[in-house]
Amino acid sequence: MTTTEPQVITITGYDEAKEAYRQKNLRQALYDAGEVIMGDVLVNLHGAEHRDRRRLENRLFRRETFELYERELFPPIISETLAPDVEAGRTELVDLGHRMMMNLAALTAGVDRPLGTPEETRHLYRYLMLFIEGATLAHYTGDRDAKRAEIAGELHKFDTEFVTPSLERRRAMVEAGEDLPKDVLSVLLANVDSLDIPHEVIVREVAFYLLAGAHTSATAFTRVSHNIFKWLEAHPEDAELVRTDRLFVQRCTHETIRLQPSSPVAMRWALDDIELKSGTSIPEGSKVVIDLLSVNRDESIFGADAADFNPHRETPDGIPAYGLSFGSGMHACIGMDLAAGLLFHADSAADSAMDDHTFGLVPEAVQALFDHDPRPDPDDPPVMDDSTTRPYFGRYPVLLRGG
Ligand code: HEM
Repeated sequence: MTTTEPQVITITGYDEAKEAYRQKNLRQALYDAGEVIMGDVLVNLHGAEHRDRRRLENRLFRRETFELYERELFPPIISETLAPDVEAGRTELVDLGHRMMMNLAALTAGVDRPLGTPEETRHLYRYLMLFIEGATLAHYTGDRDAKRAEIAGELHKFDTEFVTPSLERRRAMVEAGEDLPKDVLSVLLANVDSLDIPHEVIVREVAFYLLAGAHTSATAFTRVSHNIFKWLEAHPEDAELVRTDRLFVQRCTHETIRLQPSSPVAMRWALDDIELKSGTSIPEGSKVVIDLLSVNRDESIFGADAADFNPHRETPDGIPAYGLSFGSGMHACIGMDLAAGLLFHADSAADSAMDDHTFGLVPEAVQALFDHDPRPDPDDPPVMDDSTTRPYFGRYPVLLRGG
C-alpha cells in the first residue's frame, strides 16, 4: 500500500478565509495526534456533537458572566498577582502574563485552587505546559508514544489533585442548595446527564479550557505591552492616552492580536469536494490551512498600511479590529469577548454605552500594568524564546514606578 501526502490548500485572503470558516464540510485538523488532551474536547468535535456541546457551554459565555468576571472576579486576581512585583519595582512580563492568565483561566475553567499560593500557581502552570505539548503532539520531534504516556499519567494526577476535588465541592454545593460558581466545570456538572459526558472527557475539557484561555491571553499580554512601548517611543503624544483612555489600551490589544495572532494558522480537513466563491476548489481529503498572518494583513480590507501597528486604525463596517484572530464560524473562539472585550464603535461613544462596555481581560491586565508606569529595563533587554520557531518573547524585564 502506498500513502500519498494530502494536497494542502493555503488561504491567505480575508473574504476567502471567512468563507472557509463557514464550511460545514471542513473538519478541525489542528490537533490531529493530540487526542491525549484534545480527544472529544469542544474544538475537536464536529457536526451535531459540536453543536450540542457548544450550545451547552455558550450558556456560560454570556454578557452577565463577562461583566461579573471583568468587574468583580478578575480585578483582585490581577492586583494580587501584580502586587509583589510592584513592591519590588520590577517585573518580567512573560512570567507575569502567564501567572496572571493562568489564574484567570483556572477560574473560568472551574479549577479550584484551595491554597491560592504562588507555588500552587506554578504547579498548575507545569500541568498547563504539558497539556500544550500534548495538544500539539503532531509537531513533537522526540519519542511521541513515550510523551503521550507521560502526559496521560500527568492528566490523571491533575484530575486527582484538581478536577475531582473541584467537582466534589460543586456536588456538595448542589446538595446544599447553593448556587454553583459560573465556570465550565459547573455547566458540565449541571448537564452531565443530558449530554452523557464521561468523566475522562470532563477532565480533558477542563484541561483544554485552561490552555485555550491561559496561553493565548498570556502571549497577547506581553506582545501588547511591547507594542505600546514601541508606539510611545514614536508617538510620545499618546502617552497620556495609555493612562486615561481605557479604549486606547483595548485598541492596542485588538491591533496586536490582528498582527500577531496567538494561533497563527487554522487547519481543516475537507470531508467533501468544496468550491469557494473565489473559484478555489478544495478536493475531498485535502488539508486547508488558513494563514492568519496573511489574512489579517489583507490590504483590500485593512488598507495599504495593513502590516503596520496603528491603534488609531478604523476598520470597515463588519470587520473586527482583531481581524480573524479569534476564528469565525462554528469554532469561533467562545472566550473572545472575555479576552478582548466588546468591539467599540465611534458612534456609540455616549457615556451610557461606555457603562455597558466591557474591555476584556487582556486589556484590563495591560491597563493594570500601565497604571504602574512600566518601562523596559535598559540594562536587561527583552530576549526571544529560542526553544520555538514561533516569535514568542522568552524574557521581558520591565521596571515599575518606584523601581
Ligand atoms: C487572546 C486570546 C485568545 C485568542 C487569540 C484565541 C483564539 C482562538 C481561535 C483562533 C479559536 C478557533 C480555533 C479554530 O477555528 O480552529 C479559538 C477557539 C476557542 N477558544 Fe479561544 N482564544 C483566546 C482566548 C480564549 C479564552 C480566554 C478562552 C476561554 C475562556 C478561549 C476558549 C476557546 C474555546 C473553548 C474554543 C473552541 C470553540 C469551539 O470549537 O467551538 N479562548 N480561540
